[in-house]
Amino acid sequence: KAPPCTLVIFGAGGDLTKRLLMPALYNLASGGLLDDAVRIIGVDHNANTDEGWRQALSDTMQSFTTDRTSEFHPDHIDPEAWGFIRERLHFRQGDFTAPETFSGLAQALSGNVIFYLAVSARFFGPIVDALGAAGLLKEGAGAFRRVVIEKPFGSDLDSARALNTRILKQGAESQFFRIDHFLGKETVQSILAIRFANGLLGPVWHRDHIDYVEITAAETIGVEARGAFYEPTGALRDMVPNHLFQLLCMVAMEPPKSLDAEDVRDAKARLIQAVRPVSTADAVRGQYTAGTEHGHAVPAYRAEPNVATDSRTETYIALKLAIDNDRWRGVPFYLRTGKRMTDRVTEIALHIKAPVPSPFAGVGAAPDMLRFRIDPEQGLDIAMNAKRPGPRMDLGPVTAAFEYGDFFRETPSVGYETLLYDCMIGDATLFQRADSIEAAWAAVDPVLKASAGADPEAYAAGSDGPAGAEALLARQGHRWLPLD
Ligand code: BG6
Repeated sequence: KAPPCTLVIFGAGGDLTKRLLMPALYNLASGGLLDDAVRIIGVDHNANTDEGWRQALSDTMQSFTTDRTSEFHPDHIDPEAWGFIRERLHFRQGDFTAPETFSGLAQALSGNVIFYLAVSARFFGPIVDALGAAGLLKEGAGAFRRVVIEKPFGSDLDSARALNTRILKQGAESQFFRIDHFLGKETVQSILAIRFANGLLGPVWHRDHIDYVEITAAETIGVEARGAFYEPTGALRDMVPNHLFQLLCMVAMEPPKSLDAEDVRDAKARLIQAVRPVSTADAVRGQYTAGTEHGHAVPAYRAEPNVATDSRTETYIALKLAIDNDRWRGVPFYLRTGKRMTDRVTEIALHIKAPVPSPFAGVGAAPDMLRFRIDPEQGLDIAMNAKRPGPRMDLGPVTAAFEYGDFFRETPSVGYETLLYDCMIGDATLFQRADSIEAAWAAVDPVLKASAGADPEAYAAGSDGPAGAEALLARQGHRWLPLD
């Protein structure tokens, strides 16, 4: 069980709270992982009451049992587990920038507290300032005070640095938990186990054996109702220095000295610091035009709500990264992410170099490949060559594959359970440290600067992305894996 604590959620009426935080708390309660003394206080600027908030959340929780578009769709909501959460919910109306909100909280709170900033990024700095000014971040008498900060953490290197400096005036680094929900995915955490708990893969994990690496996070959804957020953000800021760089760390970091949070985070920070700043020649930005998604006509990005009709925001980005360390020097890491693509696929593929010399040279061996399937399929494929049955020594491609579901019982998860639980027990392993965040922004900063005002390349909704992205890999004779 996690220790007793009060969870204060800023943004109680928001989407994140109802779609992800409540289901995650419910799953933790079902698993018996929450202390009886846990309390949840929701803060929002819109008026509500304890009972009103409880009822609204009960309704959305129930709706998930029929809403197949949600990440969370249990067959039924267990009244006991939901009742446990429901009766611990309390609502406070308050403006996120008004000192009274925080003086009121200071009177109501004692002991362990986690402040969860499920709010628009513009409130991160002001809320942390106000928490500090009200004395709410002072840890005393064995009680902790922690702050969970959602993404995006800054919008470029300068703003991320400024935000780090600002929050670290109010508390210690160990009090801030910068969340990246990709790290809550079991298949992402498992990459470390597969790499470092087995002897099989380590010896080939090196530029002598790896030709190139692809990291893909392709989505079929468009920008949906998030135009106002997405317009000034774009695919690069939304996905790359955070989610894709976390995948990059998992696959490329050196073995950490131990599984302690600081050892793991040191190894990640060193990797990100070794990423050479990406030049614009190694970046391709795209924007979707009208097309079809699973047979339905869908509009262009520029025709989406709250999007400028001449918008230059990218909805797709592909980058070629170089890592300046002994393990990876000379191995290109290709990253791509986009909305409205052919299929929803999050995966990492490592293409293995052909053996030299090989008695099979010239016999048509396909390169072998290791493919970590992260989402929605979850497993690992090893694509290899084998002998085709028959009188001649002909080769044919085969795949050795495992799926997590064949070996492990699936526990219900929206990805935030581990992260919330870890924050309660004070394990920061899966959270981002200031140095890693800044190093990630530094790596993409040249592309961010150069793309302001630049036109992205068009790609049809429902395709694999812009032609320029194929050309980016073709320069070195490489190709993206097809998405479907
Ligand atoms: C979010 C981005 O952080 O991650 C979204 O803001 C994106 O634009 C989402 O759709 C993808 O996460 P997942 O877990 O659905 O792959």
